[in-house]
Amino acid sequence: MGRIERIVAREILDSRGMPTVECTLTLSTGARGTASVPSGASRGKREACELRDGNHRFSGKGVLKALRNIQEVISPTLCQLPAPTQSLVDETLLLLDGTPDKSRLGGNAILAVSLAFGKAFAEEQKIPLYEYIHHLYRGESAGFKIQEFPVPFMNLINGGAHSDSPLSIQEFLVIPFTKTGFSTALRLGAEVYHTLKNLLSEKEHSISLGDEGGFAPNLHQTRQALEFLIDAIARAGYRPGEDIFLGLDVAASMLLHDSSYHLDDSTFTTASLISFYESLWKEYPLLSLEDPLGEEDWEGWKALTQRLGKDLILIGDDLFVTSYSLLNKGIREGVANAILIKPNQVGTLTETLKVIQRASEVGFKVIVSHRSGETNDSFIADLAVGVGAYGIKAGAPARGERLAKYNRLLIIESELSLTGENFFAK
Ligand code: PGA
Ligand code: ZN
Repeated sequence: MGRIERIVAREILDSRGMPTVECTLTLSTGARGTASVPSGASRGKREACELRDGNHRFSGKGVLKALRNIQEVISPTLCQLPAPTQSLVDETLLLLDGTPDKSRLGGNAILAVSLAFGKAFAEEQKIPLYEYIHHLYRGESAGFKIQEFPVPFMNLINGGAHSDSPLSIQEFLVIPFTKTGFSTALRLGAEVYHTLKNLLSEKEHSISLGDEGGFAPNLHQTRQALEFLIDAIARAGYRPGEDIFLGLDVAASMLLHDSSYHLDDSTFTTASLISFYESLWKEYPLLSLEDPLGEEDWEGWKALTQRLGKDLILIGDDLFVTSYSLLNKGIREGVANAILIKPNQVGTLTETLKVIQRASEVGFKVIVSHRSGETNDSFIADLAVGVGAYGIKAGAPARGERLAKYNRLLIIESELSLTGENFFAK
């Protein structure tokens, strides 16, 4: 296997036009990987540090410090490793950084290198990235076998911090289930998306898009948005609660001010918010609730899990921030039953896989996720397949950076000759 010969880092722009880190890593054999890092708008407090320059460029959001760390600190050390592997590279990155939140080198600098190495190493072995990840995750001796293909969690209405819609809840998702493969599920989601656009237009709502490609209508109430989704599913010819379910990402930490939750023009305590969710669950074919309570509200989360944990997928995003120790706290305290996985919350591929492993061990569902500020890097599609994730969250079927993930999954599905309606192979 080759040594690392060269690492080149550059500043590119993400889907919001903000700078982010991209890096190309070349091995001595010529194999090469390029990876870039996304960025969130509703970030958990305990995420790995996103190192920004804080100067006159891009309102302080430039990432030249992170690039310098790659060039001056990371590259000279990694290029010395005699036999680099993913775990050795990631351990070296952690040692070089030496802080609990990756604030010295920047989680963005570290992740770009970690993922670029993974892509280069997969190329060197002449195997697809998802297979490389599968080997890291299960061990090479386990062979390569994909049992589950992820279900798309498609965010069709964008509220909260992701658009200027007055909707308090950040994401209104449709979750299509079919037995005929990912391509069919994606088609169902896309058909509902197009139907929703017509419905919104008919009712003279704006059809402008939010950060994740979903619509951002001038609606104030959660139920109004859910009604639109139900109508769109039915008009598209599908059965809500049978073919297609609904999900919400409340991003509740963003709604918490002065110890109360503020949404739908009302004020809620933890207890009244849990009752609100319970009534939504009774009224709508709701399958998942992400960050329904604030990331510090562990007591509330516990009560919610006791009340609705058997009926709903309760996903911790800001709550767990893809952290091994926070996930373990959740397991110990009976909080949540699913985890959102965002590699840039933690900072290396090895740490990401360790968290997924732990979640799977205890039966937590794993949903791999994009960020609201994205690039065209489709790494998370390969990650979701490689670990057999239950779901993938990559926004609406609109805007290139969202489609990059969904379309990559279509390619993987046809490569694996899984059931799919979108390809013909002989
Ligand atoms: P973010 O949102 O990328 O803006 O943090 C995504 C999410 O909360 O799931
Ligand atoms: Zn979230």
